[in-house]
Amino acid sequence: MKTILITGGAGFIGSHTVRLFVTKYPEYKIVNLDKLTYAGNLENLKDIENKPNYIFEQGDIADLKFITNLFKKYNFDSVIHLAAESHVDRSITDPLVFIRTNITGTATLLHVAKESWKESNKKNLFYHVSTDEVFGSLELGGDFFYEDTPYDPKSPYSSSKASSDHLVRAWNHTYNMPVVISNCSNNYGPYQFPEKLIPLFINNILKKKPLPVYGEGINVRDWLFVEDHAKAIDVIFHKGKIGETYNIGGHNEWTNIDLIKLLCKQVDEKIRNPEGTSEKLITYVTDRSGHDLRYAIDATKIKDELGWIPSLQFDEGLRKTIDWYLENISWLDNVTSGTYQDYYKKQYKQD
Ligand SMILES: NC(=O)c1ccc[n+]([C@@H]2O[C@H](COP(=O)([O-])OP(=O)(O)OC[C@H]3O[C@@H](n4cnc5c(N)ncnc54)[C@H](O)[C@@H]3O)[C@@H](O)[C@H]2O)c1
Repeated sequence: MKTILITGGAGFIGSHTVRLFVTKYPEYKIVNLDKLTYAGNLENLKDIENKPNYIFEQGDIADLKFITNLFKKYNFDSVIHLAAESHVDRSITDPLVFIRTNITGTATLLHVAKESWKESNKKNLFYHVSTDEVFGSLELGGDFFYEDTPYDPKSPYSSSKASSDHLVRAWNHTYNMPVVISNCSNNYGPYQFPEKLIPLFINNILKKKPLPVYGEGINVRDWLFVEDHAKAIDVIFHKGKIGETYNIGGHNEWTNIDLIKLLCKQVDEKIRNPEGTSEKLITYVTDRSGHDLRYAIDATKIKDELGWIPSLQFDEGLRKTIDWYLENISWLDNVTSGTYQDYYKKQYKQD
């Protein structure tokens, strides 16, 4: 039986990855390590928490002693590393926590994994999940990000992720650590914390609150349904070449304002609002400082070499996402009110 450490498994993408691995591979033991910051929510994994091949551990990836003991306890074969501080706006107001978690945390995991696998004769793998934001910003209508596009991160978030990618490559180069990296575009779907655009706006539409659009709403993002990202992680974990990087993207570019208008239209249709009701909530606000103009991924390599393509068209993915939030209003309310943070305490009877 393989024992795999997945970090950040109580977060948005991590919970979809944990669910996929726990259900698809009963022969793997999956250990989900998560600090349960504001972004971590064990309710995201309620449906699989009693599976025999799933274990949850609460802890901090930057805590060397804790991580050392965790590796001793489980003797992990592989790591899929998703734990991170992930919100650009928070990185602007509170950058140091991003440096600690995203840089020191990744270095700590690499260091302990290297020590633990020194004499291993098994096939180990350290899979680092990263973002397209490390490449910086593109011109409107211009070229794409490729795997060999030079790094040019602009925000404290993207710089901390870029640093972590460099550390992973350095461990591969210097210590021969078996690693693989993926850089993915913007994700959307169920269980996303409602500080990010799509769930925030669905929530605000339902509560009839303003929809704050940065600047003129012309920034472009390439959107991918989160379950497709989890499937790409599965494919790269099993078939990716050691030392390689894979871009993951949705071939699905939208300006923020067009996306928000589509979202308003789809939610209005769903909850039977008269046409145009939610668009009236749009409010233009001062742009984010240093706001990257455009991200767009060229995902040819993963398609050609590993056979992965996104399974969902955006219209369908967005409808699925809206349906999920409408059917899970209590999840949204628990997250926005903060009650979700009691779930772990109730579940595990801790103070
Ligand atoms: N959301 C996106 O659109 C996107 C796109 C590309 C790549 N990524 C990357 O994917 C990964 C997951 O992103 P997400 O959107 O699911 O993030 P998220 O913020 O929803 O989840 C992050 C998780 O990490 C945990 N965590 C934070 N600090 C920790 C620490 N010190 N120790 C242990 N756990 C800690 C949190 O509790 C949370 O459960 C991140 O590495 C992010 O950079 C995200």
